[in-house]
Amino acid sequence: MKQDIQEILFSEDVLNKRIKELASEISNDYEGKNLVVVGILKGSVLFAAELIKNISVLCEIDFMAVSSYGSSTETSGVVRILKDLDNSIEGKDILLVEDIVDTGITLSYLLKYLRARNANSIEIISLLNKPARRKVDLDVKYIGFEVPDGFIVGYGIDYAEKYRNLPFIGILKPEVYNK
Ligand code: IMP
Ligand code: MG
Repeated sequence: MKQDIQEILFSEDVLNKRIKELASEISNDYEGKNLVVVGILKGSVLFAAELIKNISVLCEIDFMAVSSYGSSTETSGVVRILKDLDNSIEGKDILLVEDIVDTGITLSYLLKYLRARNANSIEIISLLNKPARRKVDLDVKYIGFEVPDGFIVGYGIDYAEKYRNLPFIGILKPEVYNK
């Protein structure tokens, strides 16, 4: 598996340190609020788990699943809800947890979809941001790291459902997905 990685961008230590910083920022910002941390499946699970472990204020956890790339490396622009939230978000302060924002299409669709439900607030946190490929305007409140335009895998992020179990984040060798 590791031989398919061109370059390691963020080691597990670097990730954990940054996630602790984000969690402490969030704990300050959401003191006294009705925080619901919403992980976007499946890419955000490792990030969401590490984040919520380090959040020190009361919060609920929920998950949504949306369709992403399939096994291709290009976004289709079509977003499908595969799993909706379990609970009502009316009056709650929603924090959407994403693995990586690329074109921004997935999250801007999701925001529109959730805005009808009368949450008190909806914000986005993404572990990674790939600004080079943004197609729609999107306000991402908390960002872990900026990444270059390459195909990223690891720490929950996949290529064709593989590599999610790498404990670090790296760039996949182009020969792997050009095969
Ligand atoms: P967007 O709608 O183009 O912003 O795409 C967001 C989703 O595409 C992310 O949640 C990822 O699941 C996936 N994605 C975007 N870039 C990458 C990448 O470099 N590697 C793996 N998945 C990616
Ligand atoms: Mg995703």
